Amino acid sequence: MGPGDLEKILSAIPEESAPELLSSLRTGEDAGVYQISKGLAIVQTVDFFPPIVDDPYTFGQITAANALSDVYAMGGRPITALNIVAFPCGIDLQVLEKILLGGHDKIHEAGAVIVGGHTIDDDELKYGLAVTGLVDPAKMTTITGARPGDVLVLTKPIGTGILATALKAGLLTEEEMGEAVASMRALNREAADTLNRYRVNACTDVTGFGLVGHLYEMANAGGISAELWAGDVPLFERTLEMASMGMVPEGKKRNFEYAKNVDLRTKKEDALILECLYDPQTSGGLLASVESSDADSALEELRVGPCPRAAVVGTVSEGPGGAIIIIHGRSG
Ligand code: CO
Ligand code: CO
Repeated sequence: MGPGDLEKILSAIPEESAPELLSSLRTGEDAGVYQISKGLAIVQTVDFFPPIVDDPYTFGQITAANALSDVYAMGGRPITALNIVAFPCGIDLQVLEKILLGGHDKIHEAGAVIVGGHTIDDDELKYGLAVTGLVDPAKMTTITGARPGDVLVLTKPIGTGILATALKAGLLTEEEMGEAVASMRALNREAADTLNRYRVNACTDVTGFGLVGHLYEMANAGGISAELWAGDVPLFERTLEMASMGMVPEGKKRNFEYAKNVDLRTKKEDALILECLYDPQTSGGLLASVESSDADSALEELRVGPCPRAAVVGTVSEGPGGAIIIIHGRSG
């Protein structure tokens, strides 16, 4: 669902208030966090969706990497996962076997185990996972806590929604979107490990609400405002080209409407980049609000290590909370 509708529905549901519950549905945390004992909490998250690539094994890998991402965004370590499958009768069962194998391999790469699952018969194929992880509450990174002066670091390029739309329309092959496919199936584990060696005041992963939507949530939750540098946001190969051909997914419009408090000060030539900034992402990178004196070293370590295309994409300033200014680039 779009973030706006979701917010409306959740506001009608009584808020949970168990003392062990460390996360809140209201602030848009990436995962639920529940304290078990001193220094130990479980982190839980779930995600599922229809195929976004044709190859079933790759789809399984991407889905698992995406589901694990919320645990990494909070600084947790995944331990178990449950499969969720909606499968139309009549499709070759080998397809499902390959999807589940892709999910299994990715979960094992993360050092976790699959402990069960549930399948239903459905018109449209969907796959996902519910993942549980562990975290020390004192060390976890949340979406709240960004501070004025922080630097915004993004670990993966943007554009998976646009490219997947182009793939469905037959304008691209899976090989031609190879960079994005490799990125979607890459775990955010090393990125999180690297960032956690520095002073990170807030962190989230960039998924369905797009870069601006997730930044808006971070700005809202932290009571700060943010400046986003459109021209500095890394994009996957061919993303702009496909956006120029109108290959923009449905969800982009909902994301655009959701982040209301956005002041667009971009230049005319940034119109296509703006489409990308609202593009819903699958298995996107981490967006971290890093203490400014740590930002250069953190970025350098990310780039030579797990995230060669990591970039600084903006800064954090004093409220009003949730306000975002999008400018052309670092220098205005
Ligand atoms: Co998330
Ligand atoms: Co999620």
